[in-house]
This record gives sequence, C-alpha cells and structure tokens, in this order.
Amino acid sequence: MQLRHDNMSDIFHIIVAAGKGNRFGADKPKQFCLMAGRPVLMETIDRMRQYGLGGEIILVLSHEMTAYWADLCKEYGFESPRVAEGGDTRWQSVKNALELIDGTAKIVTVHDGARPLVTKRIIESVISAVARGHSGALPAVAVTDSMRQRSANSFVAVDRSSLRAVQTPQAFRADILRQAYSQPYRDEFTDDASVVESMGINDIELTEGDQRNIKITHPADIRIAEIYLSDN
Ligand code: CTP
Ligand code: MG
Repeated sequence: MQLRHDNMSDIFHIIVAAGKGNRFGADKPKQFCLMAGRPVLMETIDRMRQYGLGGEIILVLSHEMTAYWADLCKEYGFESPRVAEGGDTRWQSVKNALELIDGTAKIVTVHDGARPLVTKRIIESVISAVARGHSGALPAVAVTDSMRQRSANSFVAVDRSSLRAVQTPQAFRADILRQAYSQPYRDEFTDDASVVESMGINDIELTEGDQRNIKITHPADIRIAEIYLSDN
C-alpha cells in the first residue's frame, strides 16, 4: 500500500476514552486521573500525535465527560483532537468514531485512551504491517503468570508459551475495519481484531508489543506507569 506522506488523510487514529473505569473505582473515569501531574489521556494523545505518522486523531468521549474534558484542556493549555461521542460498549465507541472518518482513509488504528505508555516502535510496527499488505496488525506480548482455563467445573493448566496478551494500538485497512464494524454486535468481540476476524479474515499480523504498554486498570497501575514514565 502506497501511503501519501504529503497528505495526512491516509491515516486516522481512534483513541477510545469513553469507558467508566469501574475496576479503577475513582470518582471519575481513570483516563482523567492524574499521572505525574496531568491527566492520563493527555499523555496518550501526545504520544499518538508525536509518533502517529501525522494521522488525524479522533478522540471518543462519553457524553457526560465532554464538558469536563473541555475544562481540563483549558486548565492544562491542551488542544483537544476532534471528539466523537462514545457508546455503552467499547465496540459502540469505535463504531461511532468510524463514522467521522472520511472515505479517503487508508489505515485506521484503534488505541485505548487508558494506555498512555505506547511507544513509537509499537505504533510504527502495526501501521507498517498494514502498509505492507496485511489486513490488520496488533501488538502482543508473552504472558508471565501461569494460566488456567475453565473446563466443566474446574480450572485446568494451559501451556503459557502458547498464549499472548493483546495490546493496542491495533491497525487495520480502513475499508476492512469499516466493513467489520457494520456487522451486528456479538459477545465474542473482545477487541478490534476479533471484530475483523469474525468476517473470515485471517491475516492479522502479531507484532511485538511492550510489557510497559500497560492498560491502566487498577489504581496501582498509575504508580507503575509513573515509574516507567520517569525512566524515559
Ligand atoms: N472504552 C470506551 N467506551 C466504552 C468502554 C470502554 O471508549 N463504552 C474505552 C476505555 O475508556 C478504555 C478502553 O476502551 O480506554 C479499554 O477499556 P477498559 O480498560 O475496559 O476501560 P473501562 O471500560 O473504562 O474500565 P472498566 O472495564 O474497569 O469499567
Ligand atoms: Mg471495560
């Protein structure tokens, strides 16, 4: 795939940040909580701006948090990307953002707003896999804990070396992602790649993720992220 580097309309980045952060359990969704003195989401957006090869960012926010975000942007002197309205599920949030992306887009990435430590290497590796001809690409890492899987009424050990933990950003050919998201919702849709694969597409490339590309999920994750951030 030939990308026109003189024209920014080839690549779009969807940053989903419309979740409630129930597991985190703060008075506001985790992506607005402070990490090293500023909201997590600003670090995520800054990195995508810096490393996202000039692609336009669409930020997905819940309706209830939109005014709060505008206040935060004023307070921190931060320029917000274009905003799409989120839905009740991550799937619906991505679907809403896709509607704002013009037909000329060639590659769309989808990234969790709650993953502020994404790196240049990860972003470029998923985009380049799609530019080379894959339908999509996702960063993945080996799992470090021993794993068990439910089977009838017990949990049985599974071979950890056969498993990978999946991260974001995931990148896709824009036309394929759009088509995938026109299907009705199914519970098996756990990430964007699973939505694409449910159409029978089987050339999603796994690229090397990063153990530091954590998704802020519980309060302790902010502390860990601050340590990683201070290492940079
Ligand atoms: N997300 C979204 N819209 C939703 C649900 C999730 O945009 N309806 C986003 C979250 O804001 C987050 C990313 O998808 O950046 C990954 O979701 P997750 O880590 O599960 O965040 P939450 O759903 O907010 O957290 P929890 O599951 O603990 O409630
Ligand atoms: Mg969730």
